[in-house]
Amino acid sequence: MPMDSAAPGAELEILYDADAIARRGRELAAQISADYRGRPLRVIGILKGAWVFLADLVRQLDLEVTVDFLSFASYGDNAHPSGAVKITKDLDQSVEGLDVLVVEDILDTGQTFEYLRGVLEAHKPRSLKVVTLLDKPSRRVRPVQADYVGFTIPDVFVVGYGLDHAQKYRHLPDVRVLPSPPD
Ligand code: IMP
Ligand code: MG
Repeated sequence: MPMDSAAPGAELEILYDADAIARRGRELAAQISADYRGRPLRVIGILKGAWVFLADLVRQLDLEVTVDFLSFASYGDNAHPSGAVKITKDLDQSVEGLDVLVVEDILDTGQTFEYLRGVLEAHKPRSLKVVTLLDKPSRRVRPVQADYVGFTIPDVFVVGYGLDHAQKYRHLPDVRVLPSPPD
């Protein structure tokens, strides 16, 4: 059903609609539940982009799950990342000795994840994996890979389902393409 033309973002082309995202989310959750079967899992969401995906994903996990969040500020912008990152909200609880699954909205240049992997590994988790809704491997500048990927996408700028441009569009139920990428 088409969105009302007055709805924010309705003019943007849909890349993955809410049904496709839900289907892929269920597949990822089944895979993750099988891989961690019988082990408690600490899920760490990277704010803000991952919050919608995380909320849907954890409700599909057939595991003992606890949730924490981390937030970063990165300098530069999406088109010109500087690679410098600082933590603006740290973990509430230690992950030492735990199986940790990081939830990301999108893996782009890889600079954010490379930094956060260093931060988390310093806390000595038992294991550390990452699930990302979207992967944009063509823009990678750091050698990082996700363990679970929802969708691999070309070099387009996307919004919705948690992803923003200038803090807008996070609430859209679909992933949509912003035609003129921000620079
Ligand atoms: P990177 O992997 O360090 O380059 O940064 C990933 C972060 O950049 C994501 O968590 C998003 O906040 C942001 N980002 C990268 N590509 C996009 C996009 O297409 N739409 C919205 N945000 C993006
Ligand atoms: Mg962002």
